[in-house]
Amino acid sequence: MTTKVVPGQLVAVPDLASVATEASARFARALRDAIGRRGSASFALSGGETPRPAYEKLAQEKGIDWSKVDVFWIDERAVPPGDDRSNFKWAKKALLDHVSGARVHRMPGDAKDLEVAAKDYEKLLRSLLPRGGFDVAVMGVGDDGHTASLFPGERGVLEAERWVIAVPAAPAKKREARLTVTTPVLEASAAVFVLAVGAKKQHPLERAWSASGSVSETPARVLRGVRGSLTWIIDRAAGGIA
Ligand code: 6PG
Repeated sequence: MTTKVVPGQLVAVPDLASVATEASARFARALRDAIGRRGSASFALSGGETPRPAYEKLAQEKGIDWSKVDVFWIDERAVPPGDDRSNFKWAKKALLDHVSGARVHRMPGDAKDLEVAAKDYEKLLRSLLPRGGFDVAVMGVGDDGHTASLFPGERGVLEAERWVIAVPAAPAKKREARLTVTTPVLEASAAVFVLAVGAKKQHPLERAWSASGSVSETPARVLRGVRGSLTWIIDRAAGGIA
């Protein structure tokens, strides 16, 4: 039996509902802590399906002064904000429509020029993130080992200067163009939570946790470089526990 040393903290719970409960409680605590420490909190959201129930639960959490929270996105698809593929749409539906006063900084995936949009969003982050990272960041892991919109075999994961980049579409992978924050921002973030559910996540997680491996093959390995707290919240299936 090989013992895996998971970078950071691992929270393995039975199913998606308990992942959502664990995650929303930890997001809430981290947001309250940041507001208590700094008077405000920067909160960055990933898309995909896994975090949605956690966002819904977070909307019910008490004691968060949302008027002191700046909400950002980790990545966004090149679609209008009302599109079903929009990360903004689902975050709004699950969370933002149910809390009041949050300072919402939508990532403009529908911009005509994504390179310009990336530079503008980077300028915004540089003006609002004094320490170069978010107070609280919600991450996911793709079945192929990607995180944010940093994909295997693509140059985005190696970006070391820019904070936000445009990611070209990959028609062969039926994937639209994206905007995404980069590794330096993730590494500088204070409390990073990675949510993963389902058996398809077992191998990408194992590759992310393995002592050896490359970020080009498994971009989720960049999360090993997080200088703040790193917490993996997974269900049994993602942990390979039947
Ligand atoms: C996106 C996400 C992406 C997501 C993973 C996992 O826009 O697609 O931000 O990085 O976190 O694809 O997605 P699931 O949670 O749906 O498996």
